[in-house]
Amino acid sequence: MSRIVISGASGDLGRRVTNLLLDEDPGVELTLVTRTPEKLADRVAQGIPVLKGDYTDPESLDAAYKGAETLFLISGLNLGRRVSEHRNAIAAAQRAGIRYIVYTSVGGGAHPENPAMSAKDHYQSEQDLRASGITFTFLRNHLYAEIVSNIWIAPVVESGRLEMATGQGSLSPVAKGDVARCAAVVLLAPERHADAAYEITGPELLSMHDIVRIGSEVHGVPITYVPLTEEERLAFFDSVGLPRTYDPDMPPSPEGHMWASDELVSADLAVAEGYQALLSQDVKLITDREPEPLRAVMERVKSVRYDQIDEAV
Ligand SMILES: NC(=O)c1ccc[n+]([C@@H]2O[C@H](COP(=O)([O-])OP(=O)(O)OC[C@H]3O[C@@H](n4cnc5c(N)ncnc54)[C@H](OP(=O)(O)O)[C@@H]3O)[C@@H](O)[C@H]2O)c1
Repeated sequence: MSRIVISGASGDLGRRVTNLLLDEDPGVELTLVTRTPEKLADRVAQGIPVLKGDYTDPESLDAAYKGAETLFLISGLNLGRRVSEHRNAIAAAQRAGIRYIVYTSVGGGAHPENPAMSAKDHYQSEQDLRASGITFTFLRNHLYAEIVSNIWIAPVVESGRLEMATGQGSLSPVAKGDVARCAAVVLLAPERHADAAYEITGPELLSMHDIVRIGSEVHGVPITYVPLTEEERLAFFDSVGLPRTYDPDMPPSPEGHMWASDELVSADLAVAEGYQALLSQDVKLITDREPEPLRAVMERVKSVRYDQIDEAV
């Protein structure tokens, strides 16, 4: 029994990891679990089992995780609520007799004092996994380089001012392709990564000034980093109509995001306070490949909308 379940299989990371596993081992036993099986009709056509599973619906997970040895638990998106969603997934894995869980955690930030609201969820889910008795691997994925490229830099090319409450913090953005390659390697031999917590970073620790310098060079326009106070950043989000307080029941934006300024500012503050200031060798250690630098990612994806970036870009 060596079946791998990918839970959250229709998202970008799930798709990338599915392809890598099939490339590496065409005979790999896979089950793809998603809330929206219709999005994975291409996989059904390939003969891969696709089952409906929702972290909010424990019974769906019992059926979906049955017969598997390893679970790729792709963290959910619903802040606050996803701690209980992940608990449902962990409990279902226990009932299914799953031996290994590979979990997508947060870079550098699985720490009780990290101010980022998203990191608090990951910290708790890591604790829950440690207590579960199931052998785990944490992939503490640092900020996607694609987010730095297309959500931070691309929108400020015109104004030339990147205004954030990230202080004098630094970070090591990582390409999604590197995150996916790490996950695939670990999933194919989870016993070699038993109870490891990896910091999945890019190849460089970059200050905010480094990031705008790279952005300026790639886009061919001057861009300056302007540090804002927490109040100034909140005032900006007020001016574009974002709610101040994250609510798990808030309606998503047309692009499917649930944005609120307290969550976004908390992520800035985590950078300012140094929670992202880590550079590790783990991508090289796991994949035997150097991770892709931010500049190369930016060159590759700069003219694509963030939600349209996939492995083909
Ligand atoms: N490191 C970073 O910079 C960064 C940035 C953004 C997000 N993340 C985290 O990393 C994860 C993977 O990234 P991504 O780019 O692949 O995100 P994505 O394309 O938005 O995919 C999100 C995934 O979450 C799954 N999911 C959400 N709620 C779920 C639920 N109630 N039950 C089951 N599955 C649920 C979805 O599964 P289905 O739709 O298939 O059901 C989907 O595959 C995200 O989910 C998020 O937790 C990390």
